[in-house]
Amino acid sequence: MHKIHENSFNGIIALPSFPVVFVTVDSNIMVAGAFHFYSFDPPSVMVGIKPEKYTYELITKKKEFGINIPTKDQLDKIHICGSVSGRYEDKYIKAGLTPKKGNKIDSYIIEECPVNLECKVVHQIEYEGSHKWFIGEIKEVHIEDKYIRDDALMFWLGQFRTVGEVIEGASNNELLR
Ligand SMILES: Cc1cc2nc3c(=O)[nH]c(=O)nc-3n(C[C@H](O)[C@H](O)[C@H](O)COP(=O)(O)O)c2cc1C
Repeated sequence: MHKIHENSFNGIIALPSFPVVFVTVDSNIMVAGAFHFYSFDPPSVMVGIKPEKYTYELITKKKEFGINIPTKDQLDKIHICGSVSGRYEDKYIKAGLTPKKGNKIDSYIIEECPVNLECKVVHQIEYEGSHKWFIGEIKEVHIEDKYIRDDALMFWLGQFRTVGEVIEGASNNELLR
């Protein structure tokens, strides 16, 4: 295998895509591609938010967030929530999404998303970098009964895509139920 030595930024460019999610805090929505599973026990996820975002201000204050998984037909709403700032506009109205109060968090979650995770911030990573990472323990989960995991949307570096074919392992519905 012939490999070329690249600069370290190209190491980021070379990564495959990640799931893209709506992050909801208080009555605001933003889009995050910097989102990942963190731990099975306790069930936790993590999200990376740039400090200049309004969401950063809200999440450090409220210490909670909602993760709302979009479907691929919500791309128009992703463009709105991922470009407009909640400092100036109500994105629930602008994107035509319905706010629903969380059961375990005070913030809203998005009715139209098939999966909502209500999370409490348990740790904030203090390290320099473009994104500040928040680890959230999942306190409540809402999953639509017809949800198919592979309908989720993936994103990296301007490119949106769907999940590829399963080449080994159980179907996602067997794992979920
Ligand atoms: C596909 C996509 C992925 C994004 N991922 C992130 C991310 O991981 N972290 C981040 O801070 N901003 C990300 N953004 C940008 C924010 O969603 C965007 O700046 C948003 O308007 C911030 O809203 P706010 O100011 O109301 O918090 C992404 C935008 C798009 C369209």
